[in-house]
Amino acid sequence: MSFNPEKFIASAEKEIRLRIGNEKAIIALSGGVDSFVAATLCANAGIRLQAVFIDTGYMRKNEAEKVKSVSKEVGIHLKIINAEKQFISALNKINEPEKKRKIIGELFIRTFEKEAKTSEAAFLVQGTIAPDWIESGGHGRDTIKSHHNVAGLPKNMDLKLCEPLKELYKHEVRIVGKILGLPQCIYERQPFPGPGLAVRVVGEITKEKLEIVREACSIMEEEIERASVEGKMEKPWQYFAALLPSKTVGVKGDERSYKYTIVIRAVKSLDGMTANFSYIPQDVLQIISTRITNEIREVGRVVYDITNKPPSTIELE
Ligand code: XMP
Repeated sequence: MSFNPEKFIASAEKEIRLRIGNEKAIIALSGGVDSFVAATLCANAGIRLQAVFIDTGYMRKNEAEKVKSVSKEVGIHLKIINAEKQFISALNKINEPEKKRKIIGELFIRTFEKEAKTSEAAFLVQGTIAPDWIESGGHGRDTIKSHHNVAGLPKNMDLKLCEPLKELYKHEVRIVGKILGLPQCIYERQPFPGPGLAVRVVGEITKEKLEIVREACSIMEEEIERASVEGKMEKPWQYFAALLPSKTVGVKGDERSYKYTIVIRAVKSLDGMTANFSYIPQDVLQIISTRITNEIREVGRVVYDITNKPPSTIELE
């Protein structure tokens, strides 16, 4: 049966009203299409809602400012919580991806619980979509990776959950976002994982590595978006950079260097469940590689990920 967005919107708003009623809800608005759509459905349902953006320190360049300005544009009052210190120190010396995800998931919830107490909210609304719980091992499946907003949730959580998009796939959420009147930059926004740059620094995270990957992601986004606007390539479904834990040898002038390796990844997908790597034209690859190694002095090598999902996943962790 094909997806009927109007029918979905009407039934989701009705369900939100029934479930939350007169109680107050808090929503984790990360700035992605899923959380913006969930927040808009709640706003339209007329419930009492407090939207919060948690700055974990694992966000992309200028992310908090961007999310704040779009929220203002669509009439959602957003409170920014700076929790950088707690999130960064919680992952100190942790290098196992599943551990990172669980710690981040739990910290998100603890931060929300604290905020919910202040704002007297009983519900936590999340923009969880189908691939999140499917990949987290829902309904007896194998756990591919624990999406922070599903498997990261502690069992003894004080807040009641409301997840209006739980049965939808990303492309369906985008259609709903468009119909709800969200700006194009939101309903077409590329996905960004909840744990953020923490899962794009492979292995142990340090402040230096975080800064490197933040800058590399920003260069990758700028150049891929430029190339897409100029008609050099089709805009990929997702495009980003990740940092490998090992250094490799290089040469600068006639001196030996020993620096980090950045992986650039761009994929074509419909729903994130499977993906094919995207073809980036050689001149664009050249610009990305030159900019990354010139502008980030700790990076000495850039590699282009040419793996599909499966066998790999989209993110590196
Ligand atoms: P993978 O890496 O599993 O990712 O192929 C599929 C899609 O989901 C995004 N992703 C996440 N999204 N919380 C999220 O909200 C998470 O913990 C998470 N992990 C991965 C990923 O960026 C890709 O678009």
